[in-house]
Amino acid sequence: MLGNLNHVAIAVPDLQAASAIYANKLGAKVSAPLALPEHGVTTVFIELPNTKLELMEPLGENSPIAKFLERNPEGGVHHLCFEVDDIEQAQIALQAQGVRILGSGGIRMGAHDKPVLFLHPKDFCATLIELEQK
Ligand code: CO
Repeated sequence: MLGNLNHVAIAVPDLQAASAIYANKLGAKVSAPLALPEHGVTTVFIELPNTKLELMEPLGENSPIAKFLERNPEGGVHHLCFEVDDIEQAQIALQAQGVRILGSGGIRMGAHDKPVLFLHPKDFCATLIELEQK
């Protein structure tokens, strides 16, 4: 089922400070910030030869990463995103195994305008998993 690692998402309390750390300490090429109000985050991307890092800062009142940052005030790895060839098949196969899907139980449009599913961290070694249609 699993394809490439599309991105590793890191929640941060201060996007500008986090971008500067990656740019200055690691020489990373960091994109301009992109506000995604419908997803409750502002993000920057760091393109790597084989994948991407996504730094995310909360945006607005009900950001889905607000609780994570309450528990991890300095930020931390928030989720891993793997590509799948067929997200509907993936959903069927996972639900058949009792895997819990977050949100209202289904596929939705992700932050990169592709269909995604989020899988419950309790079913994956305490790691939030995002699956994205390739
Ligand atoms: Co993601």
